[in-house]
Parts: sequence; structure tokens; C-alpha cells
Amino acid sequence: MIDRTTPLSPVLDTFDRRLDSLRVSVTDRCNLRCRYCMPEEEYVWLPRESILSYEEANRLVGVFSSLGVSKVRITGGEPLLRRDLARLIALINGNERIGDLAMTTNGLLLAESADQLKDAGLGRITVSLDTLRPERFRDFARRARLDHVLEGIEALQAAGFQDTKINTVVVRGFNDDEIVDLLEFGRAKRVEVRFIEYMDVGGATQWSWEDVVPRAEILEAVRRSLGEVEALERPVGRGAPAEQFALRDGTVFGIISSTTEPFCRGCGRSRITADGMWLLCLYADTGTDLKKLLRTGLSDDEIAAVIREVWHSRTARGAEERLTAPDRGPLYKVEGLRRDPHREMHTRGG
Ligand code: GTP
Ligand code: 5AD
Ligand code: SF4
Repeated sequence: MIDRTTPLSPVLDTFDRRLDSLRVSVTDRCNLRCRYCMPEEEYVWLPRESILSYEEANRLVGVFSSLGVSKVRITGGEPLLRRDLARLIALINGNERIGDLAMTTNGLLLAESADQLKDAGLGRITVSLDTLRPERFRDFARRARLDHVLEGIEALQAAGFQDTKINTVVVRGFNDDEIVDLLEFGRAKRVEVRFIEYMDVGGATQWSWEDVVPRAEILEAVRRSLGEVEALERPVGRGAPAEQFALRDGTVFGIISSTTEPFCRGCGRSRITADGMWLLCLYADTGTDLKKLLRTGLSDDEIAAVIREVWHSRTARGAEERLTAPDRGPLYKVEGLRRDPHREMHTRGG
């Protein structure tokens, strides 16, 4: 049995990065097909019987929390495609060591689930939104349902959610002319917009350097239209990927510059795929099969010992290494992704 009362000593990797944040993917399925993530016609899906039950996922969260994880983010694919997700939220929310429980969603199914998620104890939600133009949304994500996403964002406020954020991946020639519109949308809705540089992660098979809009260019676009921008101090102890900025009127927005200015030095994040593969980095090629450990009957303490040991030897700094890759292009070709779908961004949860 894990003792939940004694204070924890941090579990550190080879760069002294603390195991502190866990992203839990609950499904590899998605109801959109965004070009930066799922541009192909066909995908290889994780077998249904391999998907962790909510009890299994929550048990792993419990083990991680006994090793110092206090931040959990539910991801997908699209997490709201998983039936009765509020039940998992409630299970995790019962763990007093988890102080921050959040979810990243594309928002399509939020309008009907926001109240339930709030009641179950979900703390914060980040919604992915790349354009405010219905036609563009349809062309880019191959589904004509921008209005559902916008209704979902409204529903969050009605349900009482705070600290809502919007994630916008900026892709040249697609939405780089909407940076200011999206910021103004965020200002009107009182949500923080975070612009994300397009990353060459697994699944981004159409990635090229030319399509990346770097941090400096995003800032310049904001300054040109909205005036001076002030860089805010990073909150102490937060290894979060976003840098925050404020406009003169106090509107805060963020930039995640993983492509041009990676932040691996402070990264204590790891992720579990829906079938229990534990990955030490967004760019990791392989992981540790925790499902196997669960299903062969290991105790919580035995699983904790494996996790501790793997983290101790962690050297991950995927985004920094990509900076030095010669002729940088997509990380994997389609065949490589089909051979192992764990490499897909939509399987490892963004
Ligand atoms: P908070 O700071 O808790 O709000 O969350 P977050 O920024 O970790 O979560 P979110 O899902 O909103 O992440 C935003 C984006 O940052 C992701 O969609 C990725 O594009 C990128 N990102 C998230 N985690 C990582 C990571 O571990 N490494 C890198 N390089 N990029 C990441
Ligand atoms: N580059 C940057 N971010 C990406 N995401 C997915 N694919 C990419 C990519 N190629 C992020 C989106 C989404 C989250 C789930 O994953 O920001 O919000
Ligand atoms: Fe962490 Fe890997 Fe992302 Fe670097 S690239 S910040 S090590 S997950």
C-alpha cells in the first residue's frame, strides 16, 4: 500500500529534473483531422483490449503521485470521445496529492459535458482553436464544426471553469494572419491564448521549416497591431512550456516556442498513452510498458520502483536535439508511424 501521508523526496533524472507532471491520454481516437497532427487518410489504432480501464489509469496516477507527481493533464486523441470521462476525473480528484487536474480538448463535445466535468472536480481546461473562420476550420480540420467549439468555450464559463486557455498552433499560410483576431477573441472571452510554434513531432508528416512561424514573428505581429508587449516573469517553479506576455491593457497571452527555443532543461513532464506506454519525452522513440506491469500483477510498490529507476536514468531532451538535426524535416515517415502508432502525437497526447 502506498503511504499518502509522508512528505515526498523528489525523484530526479540525470539533469536533476523532477518527476512532477503527468499527461494521461485516455484514447488515441479523434473527431478532427488537423493537418499538423493527423493529415493522413488512414491510421493504425491501438487495439481496444489494450486500452487501460479507468481503474487501471487511476492506479497508475496513484503510483506516480507517490513519487512526486502533483500535476495531471488528461489528453487524447480527443479525451471527450471516451465514455463517461467524468468518472475518471472523479477518481483522480479523490487523490489529495494531485493539486492540479487539467484537460486538453478540441472542444467539440464540451458544451454537453462541461457541467459534469466541473462537478467531477476537473480544475482547468485548455481548448485547441486554430482559426475563427468556419471555412478555414473545415479545410484544415476536415470537419465543419467551428460553432460547436465556440459553444464549448461558452459552456466552460457557464459551468464556472476558470483559467481556461486556448492553444493555437500557428502554421504559415494557414492562420498566421489571424494572430491578432485570436488574441482579441481571447480578450473578449477572458481566456489566455497561447500561440504554439508548429512542431516536427511524430504525425506531423507535412512539417517543414518554412511553415513554422517563430516566436519573434508572432510577437512582431502582435506589436504591429496592438502596441507594446511586456514579457512577464515565469511563475517560480513552473516548468511550463509557455512564456507569458501582457498587452498594455493587461491582456495576457502566451507563446510556446518548442521548435525554435526548446525548454527541455526544465521539463519534468512525462506521458502515458491510452494503452499504458510511459514516454519520457514528446519525441521519445520508445517507452516503458506499464500496462504489462499492471496486468502481470505487480504491486504498486513494485511499479513505483520501476518508474523511479527509469526516471533516474532519463536523459531526454528531444526538442533540443531536433534543433541540431541536419536537413530537419518530419520526424517519421508514414510507414514508421504505422509500424508503431505510439509515435503519433495524437497517441501521446500533445
Ligand atoms: P499548463 O502549463 O499546465 O497549462 O499546461 P501545458 O502547457 O503543459 O499543456 P498543453 O496541453 O496546453 O500544452 C500546450 C502545448 O505545448 C502542447 O499542445 C504541445 O504543443 C506543447 N507541449 C506540451 N508538452 C510538451 C512537452 O513535453 N514538450 C514539448 N516540447 N512541447 C510540449
Ligand atoms: N505542433 C505543435 N503542436 C501540436 N499539437 C498537435 N500537433 C502539433 C504540432 N505538430 C498540439 C496542439 C493541440 C495539442 C493537443 O497538441 O496544440 O492543442
Ligand atoms: Fe521535455 Fe522532451 Fe518536450 Fe524537451 S522535447 S520539453 S525533454 S518532452
